Amino acid sequence: MPADGPHRQTVDLGARSYDILIGAGLLSEAGQRIAEIAKSKRVAVVTDANVAPHYLAPLQRSLEAADFTVQSIVLPPGESTKCFAELERLCGTLLDGGLERGSLIVALGGGVIGDLVGFAAAILLRGIDYVQIPTTLLAQVDSSVGGKTAIDMPQGKNLVGAFHQPRLVLADSDTLNSLPERELKAGYAEVVKYGLIDRPGFFEWLCENGPAVLAGDPEARRHAIAVSCLAKAEIVARDERESGARALLNLGHTFAHGLEAEAGFDGTLLHGEAVALGKVLAFQLSCDKGLCPPADLDRLLNHYDSVGLPQSLADLGLADLDLLRILAHMAQDKKVKDGRLTFILARGIGEAFITQDVSEDEVLAVLAARRGSAPLAGRRVEA
Ligand code: NAD
Ligand code: GLY
Repeated sequence: MPADGPHRQTVDLGARSYDILIGAGLLSEAGQRIAEIAKSKRVAVVTDANVAPHYLAPLQRSLEAADFTVQSIVLPPGESTKCFAELERLCGTLLDGGLERGSLIVALGGGVIGDLVGFAAAILLRGIDYVQIPTTLLAQVDSSVGGKTAIDMPQGKNLVGAFHQPRLVLADSDTLNSLPERELKAGYAEVVKYGLIDRPGFFEWLCENGPAVLAGDPEARRHAIAVSCLAKAEIVARDERESGARALLNLGHTFAHGLEAEAGFDGTLLHGEAVALGKVLAFQLSCDKGLCPPADLDRLLNHYDSVGLPQSLADLGLADLDLLRILAHMAQDKKVKDGRLTFILARGIGEAFITQDVSEDEVLAVLAARRGSAPLAGRRVEA
């Protein structure tokens, strides 16, 4: 992969195809890049209060240099912003600002801003264009790509939303330099996901290069983001609306949503941290069911060790959570079908598959096995 110029990955969806550009310094080129796809010269930029001090002014400058009239909106940071009240406020502010059918909204931030802005764009004036400028690792490798948009409900995460593809994704790897380490690691778990699903070679590469990705090595970062976006783009192109293969991208998510709902959405547990542990739980469950060699769970745990990702509820400070309540939250997941939970399990690293053949007792056993600290790799530990 060349070191100069952005890497381009197309998400192939016919008339709704779009490009993901990945590279350093893309923020300063945003105006000219967006000018190539915008239908009018009115742009609204939506961001959060953590991201704004770093990146709002340079983005505004770049857009104004390309002759755009810019409305900027700064929302509170955090998962609680993905709610009806903020959605309503955002829609009102955008309409008051003169939003038109040809206007375009730019989501500048992590997955929270991307999901909320994408949903607002899906429903405002029955659907307008938006561009994703993801500024977290999680958003650059996952949430900004594929058009899933949503807000959370008291009943669970992402329960109200729409599929609405962006027109362009600009992943400026420089923006990751200001990201707190905890957020970086949470996003890294989604990078590992693509290796675990069907790219065992990429998993091997991450075992070698994961620490460099986290430490900020530019080429390692760019490669990790590019392969992740390629992997996601391929799956989305095959199954945009998750009637089949796209569900594989939910590896670890059924567990994660239960953990997040029980921990509360107050920042105690980050989405990416829950997903990181969810992947361990999915591999543990696969081993417990005799589907996956314990050696592959060991390889996953060894990699988690080397990059400092969580392997148990205790590692996340959640050893006291009520396992039955976690199970009850999991049962409210939108992936429940005919009353049965959908899980992504694995026959090994790079061999994930979708199944509903998992009992509540098996789920409880695996949660109990991974409740305490320092569980033995690849083996069931009694709670
Ligand atoms: P986030 O958007 O809350 O960002 C994490 C934190 O980092 C926030 O405090 C934010 O203000 C801050 N931040 C963002 N960029 C920064 C930067 N460059 N420098 C300094 N601080 C920065 O969280 P996230 O992890 O990016 O996204 C999580 C959300 O994404 C969840 O709501 C999840 O449901 C959603 N998600 C959606 C999809 C999808 O396909 N749509 C996929 C995965 C996750
Ligand atoms: N993050 C899961 C998906 O986009 O389908």
